[in-house]
Amino acid sequence: MDPSKFGKESERYAFLVTYYDSLAGFDREYHLLYYTFDETIEMYDVKTKRVFLKRSKYPEVALKDLYKGAIVTINSRQLKVTEYSDDFTKNNFGSKKKYTLAMIKPDGVVHMGEIIDRICKEGFQISKMKMTQLSVELAQKFYAVHKEKSFYNTLVAYMTSGPIVALELVAENAVAKWRELIGPTDCVQARQVAPNSIRALFATDKTHNAVHGSDSDENAEIESKFFFDSKGEIPATATFENCSLAIILPHIVSEKAAIGQIILDIQKYGLDISALELFSLGKTDASDFLEVYRGVTPDFQKMVLNLCSGPIIAMEVTSKQSIDVVTTLRKVCGPPDPELAQALRPDTIRAKYGVDKIRNAIHCTDLEDDGVLEVEFFFNLMQQ
Ligand code: RTP
Ligand code: MG
Repeated sequence: MDPSKFGKESERYAFLVTYYDSLAGFDREYHLLYYTFDETIEMYDVKTKRVFLKRSKYPEVALKDLYKGAIVTINSRQLKVTEYSDDFTKNNFGSKKKYTLAMIKPDGVVHMGEIIDRICKEGFQISKMKMTQLSVELAQKFYAVHKEKSFYNTLVAYMTSGPIVALELVAENAVAKWRELIGPTDCVQARQVAPNSIRALFATDKTHNAVHGSDSDENAEIESKFFFDSKGEIPATATFENCSLAIILPHIVSEKAAIGQIILDIQKYGLDISALELFSLGKTDASDFLEVYRGVTPDFQKMVLNLCSGPIIAMEVTSKQSIDVVTTLRKVCGPPDPELAQALRPDTIRAKYGVDKIRNAIHCTDLEDDGVLEVEFFFNLMQQ
């Protein structure tokens, strides 16, 4: 059936999604249908043809969240979109949505908040993100195409000089769109021809140019796999010392407008972000992480469901200054209830971006003793 022939009311997109059934030990495949007219979704098991999810509204998943490679959470199951299931979807949707691999290079990391703010405001969706430190071997491998160039050794030394943040960015014509936003390689030229580009604003010279962008769809695929399909090889940068954990919650990540602003807010007051990664938690992981709140708060189940309702960004927060990081971060986040936060501390993250007590923009470690434990959950346990 070609839904395009039936007018707006029958317009629907079809995706093939997989779910790893850890009990059975294999992937289950479903067809996921999205009806634009009433914003409903429906799911079928590919093998048994049985209905898995009756057609219904599922506001946590919007059409913008569905593209090849995306991970969405439905009924606490993490589903990976693996294919467009029909030509209508492929032609009208798939061909436009593409991804690129971006990197915030070592000299760009101090401007991470501003750069991520720009990425989100220009309409990119961040589908993957991880802070890492490149070894000489990894930097050489990543830039192997430049092996014969005179600047190769300088480039490798620069790329290994500090942490970087790798990001997979999704948008229509993502490769070209991102290269336009970052501007020419040489920042002198960037300042002349594209004064508002990221390199014009944050780069220092021809080598130290703050950001990277893939130059073709083929390279975007290779480079994204380099960072995100070889988990063991790409180490996290957490220090596990005098630290606190911050988690940007799903409603902020999917709305995306406030991600960069929240990172900027954390970076104020002498706090540093020393590790960062985007995760999609399943219900078991979310529940394990929040275990200490079970029995302490009546909202435990709601908190679990919220935490696994979409991608989150986990960060290790530290400080070079001798301050109590857990207490300082708690102050920056503000009272847990956004309404209260607005009345008492209107400049805090929860006052500005929280919706309600559950969707309160950010989780932060409560007790000083738990800082290391919470950071270990994401940057040790979840790395395995
Ligand atoms: P990138 O790959 O990092 O996104 O940058 P690009 O395409 O704009 O530039 P490319 O020619 O691929 O060069 C890779 C990186 O090498 C450093 N470079 N230094 N000193 C120099 O002459 C020189 N030329 C290039 C830059 O860091 C450049 O981004
Ligand atoms: Mg290049």
